[in-house]
Amino acid sequence: MQTIRGFRDILPEKICLWQKVEKEAKQLFEAFGFKEIRIPILEKTQLFARSIGEVTDIVEKEMYTFADRKGDKLTLRPEATASIVRSYIQHKMYATDPIRKFFMIGPMFRRERPQKGRYRQFYQIDAEIFGVESALIDSLLIFLLNELFKRLGLTGLTAHINSLGCPECRPSFQKALLKFIESKKDRLCENCIRRMDKNPLRILDCKVPDCKKALVDAPATLDHLCRGCEDHFNTVKSTLEKQKVDFIVDKSLVRGLDYYTRTAWEIQTTTLGAQSAVAGGGRYDGLVKELGGPQTPAIGFAIGFDRLVEVMEQIDKAPEPHPLDLFIVALGDEAIEKGYHWSCELNQADIRTEMDFRGKSLKALMKRANKLAARYVLIAGENELTQNAVILRNMNTKEQVSLHLETLIPELIKIFKK
Ligand code: HAM
Repeated sequence: MQTIRGFRDILPEKICLWQKVEKEAKQLFEAFGFKEIRIPILEKTQLFARSIGEVTDIVEKEMYTFADRKGDKLTLRPEATASIVRSYIQHKMYATDPIRKFFMIGPMFRRERPQKGRYRQFYQIDAEIFGVESALIDSLLIFLLNELFKRLGLTGLTAHINSLGCPECRPSFQKALLKFIESKKDRLCENCIRRMDKNPLRILDCKVPDCKKALVDAPATLDHLCRGCEDHFNTVKSTLEKQKVDFIVDKSLVRGLDYYTRTAWEIQTTTLGAQSAVAGGGRYDGLVKELGGPQTPAIGFAIGFDRLVEVMEQIDKAPEPHPLDLFIVALGDEAIEKGYHWSCELNQADIRTEMDFRGKSLKALMKRANKLAARYVLIAGENELTQNAVILRNMNTKEQVSLHLETLIPELIKIFKK
């Protein structure tokens, strides 16, 4: 039996970098006042269709959707934002305190064509802020991402930022865009033609090379911003400059989800080939209302956890898994039984102890202790036990001491807790 295409195991040998990222991210989120939220993996299809947009790649082509036994249409979450908004509304969080900061870490599912950095089950580290309209929150989130990457020792990442405007300035942009697209119609793919009437902004996100070429000079949202959106974007930029966060204004960045308004960004790397976006985010001031809540500004981002780890693997060898403190070399049945009780007591005292229950020879057990990189070995042979003693050997210095059975555990705890 094999995993499904695009799904993979993350094996214990590889988990250290994942844990390192998770630890740094959680510490940073807590410092910035974010609270962890856990959302279901399965939601009603309608939630994603309405938030991400019916005419998007994710909803049209990539969702794992099925009917359950009652015929309800359900979908494995392709992202976290929609569910967090649903939760914010469902639990009326806006009524007790509209200002909320959440983070979540977990798997997402999109049926894309698998390749390096792109999987059908992938992981995101997601953060969302509700209830704050100020542009300072936009720069805060980009600053936070930058700080996390700095703490992880990553360089060569660039924030690409853009403004996608708001319902006030969109119509003027869409008019200009449609006029432009009309003039390039014969060079666009079928999918783009189909989207012209339904969702013209998505055409700018088409990955077909010929379409990309035809759309190089397409109008940009940035050239059609209303006064409010322009001021907002200027504040984001000047704040990031003051904070010395590097960024590039990227007029062509439109993101692949429909809910965005105003600031949108991606953190890109040059080291992952085609899958260059390590994180993406933006403002979505209309979504809470759209899904049935009160008008609430909101903004967030998601880091592609798999991709982040792949970037880190290029510069950072995974830290060694926890070294073993002690390996008990128990020779004979009596020693194995005693060793079992000692190892349980030592494990209880948070001392990493292992033993082998198979009744192997001294030579074989010493070989295993070496393989597990044990710092110490406790040798309990029949001879030693008749003298009520065992031998503790420091595998580094090769020094040996004899320890009395009666005081064995407290003695060992003293040695390891030093
Ligand atoms: P997104 O750009 O679709 O945004 O995904 C965010 C990140 O997830 C991407 O930049 C990428 O690193 C990673 N990612 C996406 N698809 C895959 C895949 N198939 N395999 C591996 N990694 C992948 C969102 O999901 C929004 N919900 C972000 C957001 C939060 N906006 C506001 N709040």
